[in-house]
This record gives sequence, structure tokens and C-alpha cells, in this order.
Amino acid sequence: MSHIDHDNPSTPGKFKMEKSSYMNRIRWHYSSLAKLTFWSFVLFLGLILVFFFKSPTSTSSPLPSDLYRRSLRTYSWGGPAWEKRVRASSRTRSRNGLSVLVTGAAGFVGTHVSAALKRRGDGVLGLDNFNDYYDPSLKRARQALLERSGVFIVEGDINDIALLKKLFEVVAFTHVMHLAAQAGVRYAMENPSSYVHSNIAGLVSILEVCKSANPQPAIVWASSSSVYGLNTKVPFSEKDRTDQPASLYAATKKAGEEIAHTYNHIYGLSLTGLRFFTVYGPWGRPDMAYFFFTKDILKGKSIPIFEAANHGTVARDFTYVDDIVKGCLAALDTAEKSTGSGGKKKGPAQLRVFNLGNTSPVPVSDLVSILERLLKVKAKRSVTKLPRNGDVQFTHANISSAQMELGYKPTTDLQTGLKKFVRWYLSYYDSGKKSAQ
Ligand SMILES: NC(=O)c1ccc[n+]([C@@H]2O[C@H](COP(=O)([O-])OP(=O)(O)OC[C@H]3O[C@@H](n4cnc5c(N)ncnc54)[C@H](O)[C@@H]3O)[C@@H](O)[C@H]2O)c1
Ligand SMILES: *[C@@H]1O[C@H](CO)[C@@H](O)[C@H](O)[C@H]1NC(C)=O
Repeated sequence: MSHIDHDNPSTPGKFKMEKSSYMNRIRWHYSSLAKLTFWSFVLFLGLILVFFFKSPTSTSSPLPSDLYRRSLRTYSWGGPAWEKRVRASSRTRSRNGLSVLVTGAAGFVGTHVSAALKRRGDGVLGLDNFNDYYDPSLKRARQALLERSGVFIVEGDINDIALLKKLFEVVAFTHVMHLAAQAGVRYAMENPSSYVHSNIAGLVSILEVCKSANPQPAIVWASSSSVYGLNTKVPFSEKDRTDQPASLYAATKKAGEEIAHTYNHIYGLSLTGLRFFTVYGPWGRPDMAYFFFTKDILKGKSIPIFEAANHGTVARDFTYVDDIVKGCLAALDTAEKSTGSGGKKKGPAQLRVFNLGNTSPVPVSDLVSILERLLKVKAKRSVTKLPRNGDVQFTHANISSAQMELGYKPTTDLQTGLKKFVRWYLSYYDSGKKSAQ
């Protein structure tokens, strides 16, 4: 919407100028000029629409136009009642509590982090666009859960600068927990622009508004273990190279880390990036293996188990969501204040990156065995070669840095965590009409 608003005053004007020498030779009056302006405006709008929906990318896949429709969707926000809800949700219970804007609050990690912050007395305001990358009814159910604990989720896109500015006008957030993103590794081949939209443009929108806010908040945001890409040295340490991403998703997260560096350097924003390692747990993401394996095992459908070249094991450093939440809260609590004001840097500010993993990689076939035991159903396994479209063979976090500086210490093993996930899954999907899509 905003770029249409931005472009239309200049282009019809230009069109008018080119026509003016011809127009001078004939007598014309105001109404014909008005008509011309009107029709050139209509033509211009038409050209924009043609550009959006007939662009080369949208012929190869129907999804990018879907994205534009999504990003052009308007949300209703504003008004005294809305502002009152925003304020109430953001209010802290204790005097030195934090006031946190949580983006992606209707998401898996966002819901858990928001609930944990609210529980300990911090003010929390959520922001989410409820997109349909996966079943939005799950996002709505998480929203209902948060609403019961007093967290309001504003419905909107992180690219909506006017909305973000409004939120900072209404509330002086001390912290931003930025979790909104286009997640998933394989979907990047279907809908690449959604990654650019949310993970790059969206991050820049958030940082732009934060750098202009008075006071500037401290920002903690989700990067990903996927930045290690084709790295083969394990365990992955923050000092290792991250310049060989294996997916567009990974590349956008890596870009995010560089963008964070820039905003820290130029504007004095305090920035902490957290590289999550395969997070799982109740209210999880249906596009992740542990989730759809559970669904398919229960349905008696065969599940693909990836194997690397030469029967190599594919393994993940699965990290339980409660451990991730503890890491997120510790990152917020240890974040130093941003140093800039009035959009200008006043001194050096904190810039950090931490791995948040479990430090014990588990082969995917073991994950399936645990699920079989918990579900009391034998899985139909079909072993498949790991496709080279983004997934890496192995992840393993070195968490010594997070341990030292955040006091981060994961305590849930895969067996214990999956038991909690399965219990949630069965009660959420078996309790009524709902079924996993
Ligand atoms: N779950 C994992 O294993 C994992 C691993 C590494 C990194 N991460 C990162 O952690 C963060 C949270 O992941 P998650 O698993 O909770 O994913 P999720 O998809 O459940 O949550 C993301 C939320 O952000 C929202 N969102 C997306 N684009 C938006 C936009 N443009 N404007 C407003 N809202 C938008 C979505 O609607 C969704 O509710 C993401 O940044 C993700 O990339 C997750
Ligand atoms: C983990 O990283 C730290 C630095 O943060 C390093 O000193 C240590 O040797 C690493 N551990 C392993 C097992 O690689």
C-alpha cells in the first residue's frame, strides 16, 4: 500500500508534462485536464496491478502474488479502545519490570515467551499478522491462551511502519523481543519473497522504528542455527564461519545478523541475536518433523527418514521450548540499554550473538523410536536420501558462551520434552472436532 501512495503523485504529473506541448496547441479547459489526470491515474494504477500480478516470478509459482495480497491486507487498528488495550497489556506489575513488544507472539516460541514474561510480572504486547504459512487456527488458539493471561496481540505486519510508530507512541517499550519471521527451510523454494519480506524488510522496519524511538529499546531477536550452513566443525561455536548458508532461510537470518551489526554501529541500538537449535514442544509448529511425524504415525502414513550420503546419520540438537524461553528471558534481562537518542548514536552499545541449543544431537531415527513408544504405534519408516535443498546433516550447539553470559543451562532431554509434546498434541487434537491439517 505504502509504495503506491508514495509513487502516484510524481508519475501522473510527469505524464501531464509530456502531453503539455500538444495540449498547448489546442484550446483546453480545466475539466479536460482533470479528466486527463484522472485517466492517467487509472492507467497508472492498472500498470501497478499488472506489474504485481504478472511479474515473472508469479508465472512460475502462484505464491508470490499470494504474498502481495497478504502484505497489502489491511488490518484495523487505532482508536481509544484499542489504545487502552495496548496500554493495559504493556503495563508492568512491578516497578522495575520490563515492558516488552513481542513480535510473532501468536507463533510457537512467541506464545511461550509472552506467557513467561507475563507470568513474572512484565508488561507484554504481542504483534502478529496471523499469516497462513501453517494452519492459522493454531495461531488463534495460542492467541486465546495468551488473552486469558492478559496479553493482547495486535494484528498487523512488522512492515507496517505507521503501526509500529503508533505502538511506540502509546507505550515506551523498554525491550523488543523480535520473533516474527518466515520460518522453514524447504518452503523457501516455493515462496522466496516471503522470506525477504519478513526476515529482511521486516527486520529493517523494526530496527528503523526502534532507532527513532525515545527512549530506544534494547532488542533481542531470533536468528537461527541454520546460519552455520555447510559448516562441518562441531560443535558449532559463535566464532565459526557462517558464510556458507544452505538455504535462503539461512541466508536471510545471516543477513539479519549483519543488519543488526549496522544498526548497532550507526544508531547505538543494543542488539542480541539468538541462534535457536530445532525448538520443539507443546503448541509447536506443524511444519516441523517431530510434529508431522506424530500426525502421520497416528494416521498410519509412512514417514520419510532422511539419510545422508553413505548411510550417514541425520541428527538434530533438539531443544525444548522451555529451555529456549529461559534463554530468551535471560537475554532480555542481561541486555544493556541502547545508547542512542533522537535517532543518533551517543556511544558504543552492546552487540551479542548466542547459540541456544541443547548440546546433545539425536539421530532422527531415534526421534521416531521415542515417538513410537509414546504413541504406542509402530511407525512406517521410509528411508530417503537427504535432499540438497536446505537441510543440513547435523547440528550441535556449543553453548558455553550462553552459559557464561546468560546463565543458560538446558535441562530437558528429548524423551522428557517429547512426552510433554505428545500429551499436548493428543489433548489438543483429540479433544474435539479439530484435526491436524
Ligand atoms: N522453531 C525453531 O526450531 C526455530 C529454529 C531457529 C530459529 N527460529 C526462529 O525463531 C522465531 C520464532 O519461530 P517459531 O518457531 O515460533 O515460528 P512461528 O512461525 O510459529 O512464529 C512466527 C510468527 O511470526 C508471525 N509473522 C511472520 N511474518 C510476520 C510479519 N511479516 N508480520 C507480523 N507477524 C509475522 C507468524 O504469523 C507467526 O505467528 C523465528 O524468527 C524463527 O525463524 C525458530
Ligand atoms: C566452545 O566454545 C568456547 C568458546 O566460546 C571454546 O572455548 C570451547 O573450546 C568450545 N568447545 C568445544 C568443545 O569446541
